[in-house]
Amino acid sequence: MSLKQEVRDFIFKHLRDHPHDVVRMIVERFEVSRQTANSYLRSLVDEGLVYGEGKTKARRYFLKDFVNKAFDIPVTPDLMEDTVWLETVQKYLRDYPKNVVSICHHGFTEIVNNVIDHSESSKIDIEVIVNALQIEMVIRDHGIGIFEKIKNDLRLDNKWYAILELSKGKLTTDAEKHTGEGIFFTSRMFDEFSIWSDDLFFRTSADNQDWIFEIEEKDLVLKGTCVSLFLDPRTTRTAREVFNRYEDEDSRFSKTHVPVRLAKFEGEDLVSRSQAKRLVTRFEKFTEIVLDFRGVSIIGQAFADELFRVFQNAHPGIHMIYVNANQDVERVIKHVRLTGQVGQQLSLLDEP
Ligand SMILES: Nc1ncnc2c1ncn2[C@@H]1O[C@H](COP(=O)(O)OP(=O)(O)OP(=O)(O)O)[C@@H](O)[C@H]1O
Ligand SMILES: [Mg+2]
Repeated sequence: MSLKQEVRDFIFKHLRDHPHDVVRMIVERFEVSRQTANSYLRSLVDEGLVYGEGKTKARRYFLKDFVNKAFDIPVTPDLMEDTVWLETVQKYLRDYPKNVVSICHHGFTEIVNNVIDHSESSKIDIEVIVNALQIEMVIRDHGIGIFEKIKNDLRLDNKWYAILELSKGKLTTDAEKHTGEGIFFTSRMFDEFSIWSDDLFFRTSADNQDWIFEIEEKDLVLKGTCVSLFLDPRTTRTAREVFNRYEDEDSRFSKTHVPVRLAKFEGEDLVSRSQAKRLVTRFEKFTEIVLDFRGVSIIGQAFADELFRVFQNAHPGIHMIYVNANQDVERVIKHVRLTGQVGQQLSLLDEP
């Protein structure tokens, strides 16, 4: 990558959080003069991607939005998500690469379909913001609220576990008409995907194909559901490649990736069999499960035994893989797996 390109990427990455001191940051990072740093910013200004405000020391730079639109769509019984796409976002993305448009089309229509089919909201608020760095689509309804809906329909103990269930995929509260794929795939196609509903905020972000899941409790309560989708228009990701990651040879959605951390409620440790049972709920719908232990510092023996021995022995056809386990976690997993194998061999030997 040329230095010019590197500096431009650096500016795009840091401009939002550092409008005041981005020039200083360029000077430090690339060991160039202030004058040179300024000239990089000026060329972005000349291209219409960035704009500046204020003079000399007070000068600040911002990304210029090419599109910043809001729409209010009434939900009528015959409203179709594709019509909403055509009437709102589509025209602004005409000149973008096919892979970008296809991801935006998929995600947007899935989330709008959810509002129409699940939210009981009478309207959808849509926001589209496009600049050099990202395409942002925000879809907000004023209905029942996604976490509340899932908690009630699945009779979960609390809304927090709705996030765990959503992350597994194949979760639907209307199995006759739906399969539970919308949020699973959409959340993995975008660079950032978030849901805010009530006082819970759930965010996933893709960073080098690795997924980071975060939950925050908000002071502000949002009635309904607000989903935000962010995509870097320079992405090379395709919707097909995301589907491929979770599909088998017959193009069936059969693999999942579960952040184990989401099974923890309010910072508790993962120690008990009941926590493991909560984690494995609906695992039998998949043939391959990647258990991601990022953010889990320790697990108890009973938790691991339930997961890697009891559940695994009861479901030998399910391939369970673990990733991002630290040494302590891995030691416990290896121990129970070994015990499981010894147990199996012994029971085979015991047979007449
Ligand atoms: N805006 C919303 N308001 C209330 N509940 C929602 C909303 N969006 C999604 N949900 C809940 O989340 C569940 C999962 O949504 P998701 O889009 O992943 O699957 P689905 O819509 O059921 O199936 P599919 O998307 O494959 O048609 C839904 O079944 C519904 O219970
Ligand atoms: Mg859906």
